[in-house]
Amino acid sequence: MKASNYADQPDQKIHWRVFQIIWPYLLEYKTRIFWAVVCLVLSKVASVSGPFLLKHIVDAFSADAPVNVLVIPVALIIAYGFARFSMILMGEIRDTVFGRVTERAMRKIGLEVFRHLHYLDLEFHSERRTGGLSRDIDRGIQGISFLMRFFVFNIVPTLLEIAVVVALLFYNYGLSFACITLIAVLLYIVCSMLITDWRTDFVRQSARADSRASTICVESLLNYETVKYFTNEQYEEERYDEALKKWESAKRKERLSLLGLNTVQALIISVAMTLTMWLAALGVADNTMTIGDFVLINAFMMQLFLPLNFLGFVYREIRGSTANIENMFALLDVTSHINEVTNAPDLKISQGAVSFQSVSFGYGPDRPILKALDFTIQAGKQVAIVGASGAGKSTLVKLLFRFYDPNNGKILIDGQDVRNISLKSLRQAIGVVPQDTVLFNDSIFENIRYGNPQATDNEVMQAIKLAHLSDFIADLPDGVATLVGERGLKLSGGEKQRVTIARTILKQPPILVFDEATSSLDSQSERSIMAALNEISKDHTSVIIAHRLSTVVDADKILVLHQGTVVESGSHLELLGVNGRYARLWAAQLRDRSPA
Ligand SMILES: Nc1ncnc2c1ncn2[C@@H]1O[C@H](COP(=O)(O)OP(=O)(O)O)[C@@H](O)[C@H]1O
Ligand SMILES: [Mg+2]
Repeated sequence: MKASNYADQPDQKIHWRVFQIIWPYLLEYKTRIFWAVVCLVLSKVASVSGPFLLKHIVDAFSADAPVNVLVIPVALIIAYGFARFSMILMGEIRDTVFGRVTERAMRKIGLEVFRHLHYLDLEFHSERRTGGLSRDIDRGIQGISFLMRFFVFNIVPTLLEIAVVVALLFYNYGLSFACITLIAVLLYIVCSMLITDWRTDFVRQSARADSRASTICVESLLNYETVKYFTNEQYEEERYDEALKKWESAKRKERLSLLGLNTVQALIISVAMTLTMWLAALGVADNTMTIGDFVLINAFMMQLFLPLNFLGFVYREIRGSTANIENMFALLDVTSHINEVTNAPDLKISQGAVSFQSVSFGYGPDRPILKALDFTIQAGKQVAIVGASGAGKSTLVKLLFRFYDPNNGKILIDGQDVRNISLKSLRQAIGVVPQDTVLFNDSIFENIRYGNPQATDNEVMQAIKLAHLSDFIADLPDGVATLVGERGLKLSGGEKQRVTIARTILKQPPILVFDEATSSLDSQSERSIMAALNEISKDHTSVIIAHRLSTVVDADKILVLHQGTVVESGSHLELLGVNGRYARLWAAQLRDRSPA
């Protein structure tokens, strides 16, 4: 695991709760767990029997009676080799068998969190950084993997083995051996944990210094040109070295504290070893023990303390892992504000009339955006909504799509309150070409097909034609297979908008909403696209939100939105007749344009 992963680990304790959470996910593979435990036991039996075989080999040599070298020791040596091999093999099989259980749990939990995140409302997602979310999931999933590997199959079995060995020592050699071993192990564990707790801070500091240094390095190189423009190379070097200096000193503390940890561990082991071997030597001297016993005790001590070597590291990692898992599961506890009523029926669209009835809404309590908004869009008609930037036009679309619910009033589609129908049927009925288009980093073709994954190639090509993309695509060396880049960055704003329009055409929803869908186009393309939009929205209820009034003159009805309410409504000519806000906007836009 890379050091930078520690950088923002907040926690100091093991969250035992996560074992409770994970447990049900593991139970899916009961037989696998059973076999993994069998392998575990076998491997421990093999591991414990090793020193006993060693004892018999040594005793065979030191027996007074002449030994048949070729019979007894050879058989024992082979048995010893076999025990070592079985111990390792059983351990490997155990990991392989259990790997499936861990991976299935990781998959199920990963999918569950992913599904939950999609279920959560837009409000949640507007407030969380997506990068942070995916890191939370990633770390949680890796935490589960680590926990399984090290806790289930390292710490717990080692503790079991210690218990068995202590019992065997007690049974075969008496209390003092058992006591020394037990006390040494306990002391070792407690000291490792305490020292690890103490030095976690240093580890974290050095990880933080490390990531700060690399941030400075990356940022400086990204701004290569700026650095040159101002010949600030030296300044940059000093800044970088400053960060490296902090890293160096943090690293020093980390290193020294590790020295402390390792020294204490080594001291405990050595004292315990010396004591037990001294006792064994006394036993050999007064003939109550054989040389084989002496070797056995030595072998046990080595075997016991070896896996404990990693205890500090494993302990710290387990703490981090449980915190990360807890973090990930905390996401599952977040609930959505946008919920379906139980057994919500599907939306039944007969014509697609939309009506807002005294709808009020604000993103926060202290700033109302829409105030008692009232309007109706008759089925099959085209309505345009105009108004200054920030008037709440896009907000209105979000309410219709039920990304948010109004604070007051209701929104009806063909007489059905959007809150009482299933979200899926509602959202299937509405096609939105949003103001800010984001694309998947895939080909143009696949991005368009996203509107309806079942569409045939022909239907996609048809949509491309309707959205006036054919000429643009013909110019591309790779045609429809051209990749659009991260979030669609390789396309111009207008090209992106047309891709989204094609995608929405493919969805064929009864209600269409174009939220400034042509704002990034020049007047020429805008006119031709508007012609296409009018074509596809024929017989559909459609809402066109536009900035340039020239694009909405043909709408059946125009709503002028100002400070959260509809201040004027009517056809283009009617509104000019009223000679109010709309007429003034129209005059202003005409004036801007006329010199050309
Ligand atoms: N998620 C949000 N949280 C808080 N305020 C928002 C949010 N989205 C939009 N707003 C605010 O709501 C107002 C209306 O936004 P919007 O509906 O996008 O305006 P427009 O009419 O330009 O489409 C703006 O002042 C904007 O700052
Ligand atoms: Mg908008």
